[in-house]
Amino acid sequence: MTAARLTVDPRSVIGPVRRRLFGGFVEHLGRHVYDGIYEPGHPAADEQGFRTDVLDLVRELGVSTIRYPGGNFVSGFRWEDSVGPREQRPRRLDLAWHSTETNEIGLHEFADWLDKAGSDLMLAVNLGTRGTLEALDLLEYANVPAGSTLAQQRIDDGRTEPFDVRVWCLGNEMDGPWQLGHRSAADYGALAARTAKGMRQLDPSIELVVCGSSGAQMPTFGEWERVVLEHTYDDVDMISCHAYYQEHDGDTASFLASAVDTDRFIEAVVATADHVGAAKGSAKRIDISFDEWNVWYMDRVASEKPTAIDDWPVAPRLLEDVYSAVDAVVFGSLLISLLAHADRVASASLAQLVNVIAPIMTEPGGPAWRQTTFFPFALTSRLATGEAVRLHIASPTVETARYGTVPAVAGVATHDADAGTSAVFLVNRGMAEPLDVEIDVRGLGDVEIVETHLLHDDDPAACNTLADPDRVRPRPLDARVEGGILRVTLPPVAWAALALRRR
Ligand code: AHR
Repeated sequence: MTAARLTVDPRSVIGPVRRRLFGGFVEHLGRHVYDGIYEPGHPAADEQGFRTDVLDLVRELGVSTIRYPGGNFVSGFRWEDSVGPREQRPRRLDLAWHSTETNEIGLHEFADWLDKAGSDLMLAVNLGTRGTLEALDLLEYANVPAGSTLAQQRIDDGRTEPFDVRVWCLGNEMDGPWQLGHRSAADYGALAARTAKGMRQLDPSIELVVCGSSGAQMPTFGEWERVVLEHTYDDVDMISCHAYYQEHDGDTASFLASAVDTDRFIEAVVATADHVGAAKGSAKRIDISFDEWNVWYMDRVASEKPTAIDDWPVAPRLLEDVYSAVDAVVFGSLLISLLAHADRVASASLAQLVNVIAPIMTEPGGPAWRQTTFFPFALTSRLATGEAVRLHIASPTVETARYGTVPAVAGVATHDADAGTSAVFLVNRGMAEPLDVEIDVRGLGDVEIVETHLLHDDDPAACNTLADPDRVRPRPLDARVEGGILRVTLPPVAWAALALRRR
């Protein structure tokens, strides 16, 4: 087969396109906060020291809820260090990234930054080296309007109104041996349940995320979810998934098919959660917070942290991956997978946002620019509205060493019946030849094409860098609709987005 045939039927609804699917993640790690979003003295810095050029890009990216302050960082974090008079805040050693945390930016400053970015706060509490009481204290400080010592402390620290944080993560990657305070599923499940119960006693309106696995490759995957949910099922709303992908040993074909793993990961966690619910005779449903996902070259030098006892730098260059055109295609396919599971993935956080495995890069005193991965995120976040709709796909296949035979074309659609708009997101994972794609859009009525975007580069290794920040950009894609059939040709290794409107 040289062509792929797809059908969009708006009745094949997967679930709502929740804005929280387009969340981000800011960790105190490397140059993310310091010399990333915050650089007093930079020509573009505002009165608080936040880079306005970065804020412009964050708004353009279209990030909804932002998870903060970690990540591995949170498991050694004392939240009290990050509030109150700045000059009195301690300098702490961050064991996760072998760096020094100055606490110059803390909860209040970050919330101010979020207000400027137009994003919401999602907080993680430390269940690695701390426990229920500290989580309760932070919740009281953040969400109780007035009348208690901690609420008054927040007011004295400059915020009269509560932060009103809606979503809280109960620790981070507690299944990972690298995590400070890593423990067994049973120990973590019991601690998370106790903490969740207490947090709900304080503020019943919050949503809680319990830690799932740090990846589907973890030896405890599956069993971890079962045990943790047996403890916490009644007390939490979501369980987390984390997944990072990279090309291994030059196997581009498998790398391009990474979203197959994301699909299987999500479906396995849903099955496990539903099994626990069934065994409990519960009518409640646990959804997924996919609160870390990205392409990350973990084995590269960029991810090596200092190790010496006298070497604890402030904001070192860490995890500064430079993304290629092929990385962006894989990244776009991961977004397709998240949307294709919009019934159960209620929230997702791209890890991360600035400088650290990020769609936005900065140079101290210099410019900010968009990595290749910026484009699929910004376009999907802007164009995906209404409901996610399953595409019926008949496609040629590609052979991969990791995932076997997989369809070359993957995709998903969205449909907003009230606005009369739709969008189709596609990826061609084939490496050999262009593919003619025919999409039967008759189910959408009489539609016209409003915008098209193609992310592809004849050099799959092409990147955007300080020296050449606009090397890779999306281009318009030649597309036409005739007799209810939308026709495009996708080059190999390509991601595309098409926006349609009812005439
Ligand atoms: O995003 C980088 C790191 O990846 C996070 O700190 C951690 O949660 C994960 O292992």
